[in-house]
Amino acid sequence: VGHIDDVQELRKSKTSQIPERFIRDRTERPTLDYSCTNIPVVDLSKLFQGSKDEFCNEILNLMTSCKEWGFFQVINHGIDLELLERIEKVAMEFFMMPLEEKQKYPMIPGTVQGYGQAFVFSEDQKLDWCNMFALGLEPHCVRNPKLWPTKPSDFCETVEIYSREIRKLCKNLLKYIAITLNLNEDIFEEMFGVAVQAVRMNYYPACPRPDLVLGLSPHSDGSALTVLQQGKGSSIGLQILKDGKWIPVQPVPNALVINIGDTIEVLTNGRYKSVEHRAVTHKEKDRLSIVTFYAPSYEIELGPISELVDDKNPCKYRRYNHGEYSKHYVTNKLQGKKTLEFAKIKN
Ligand code: SIN
Ligand code: FE2
Repeated sequence: VGHIDDVQELRKSKTSQIPERFIRDRTERPTLDYSCTNIPVVDLSKLFQGSKDEFCNEILNLMTSCKEWGFFQVINHGIDLELLERIEKVAMEFFMMPLEEKQKYPMIPGTVQGYGQAFVFSEDQKLDWCNMFALGLEPHCVRNPKLWPTKPSDFCETVEIYSREIRKLCKNLLKYIAITLNLNEDIFEEMFGVAVQAVRMNYYPACPRPDLVLGLSPHSDGSALTVLQQGKGSSIGLQILKDGKWIPVQPVPNALVINIGDTIEVLTNGRYKSVEHRAVTHKEKDRLSIVTFYAPSYEIELGPISELVDDKNPCKYRRYNHGEYSKHYVTNKLQGKKTLEFAKIKN
């Protein structure tokens, strides 16, 4: 991605002309609905320290959220709000640096680490109206130290602290999700080995023609769980596909958005589905999102959990190696739930 395809540079040039590579085919163009839709809210304080009744009710709420939506927001998640502000601040400072500075950390095609656009593999593929900066975090062997920026000076330290907190949250969520399925609460933790964690910061500059472009192409996540922080003061932009309709997600202040990824769909034999989502842009306002992906270790072989397979729920996915799946995911363009075909048993 050169100068001309960098959306922040395009924005700065004040052109109202959208380059061809960003203009979507008619069928792919977004519906621009910035009105409120409330997705389920799960109050984690009820799970962390609620009474027995509160706990049971919130587990039910979590179960419905996973089953009917695959997307929900968590409140009272225990992560310091000041830390959420700090990560936004360093992310914004990073994106506001001159292009030359950011290009010291270029995204390498076929990986999702560094600055630029991921998932681009051909000249005729449409580009997203988005700049990304992504880093592998855990285990340490996935880190590429050359991509950790020296500026802003508190960037690395903040990412480090933030990712530790989000990791704890993911572990807790997986425990509670196991409980909603009547499984041993440690089942995911035990299966995953040393979980892989990555962070991706998405910056969507305002776009003169939000009706023609997409901020981020429709996809489901290749992770087990994803934790998404939407920038304070950002425009609304996340949309999820529910019952064939694109629904804009109304951010709840200080909440984090959680979504089920492909791995949980496979492990639960489709009981909980990864949900297709995308991002749209806004004519005047920019948008920041900070996304954490939490997934099993690459060495792990995965398939539907045996307790969730029976005569009524025949096995829908084959066993596969998660590292292979990840590789498959990052070396293909984002295209709805197409990547998950990799794991489907066809009959
Ligand atoms: C994502 O799906 O990775 C990000 C979506 C968003 O920016 O809200
Ligand atoms: Fe996503």
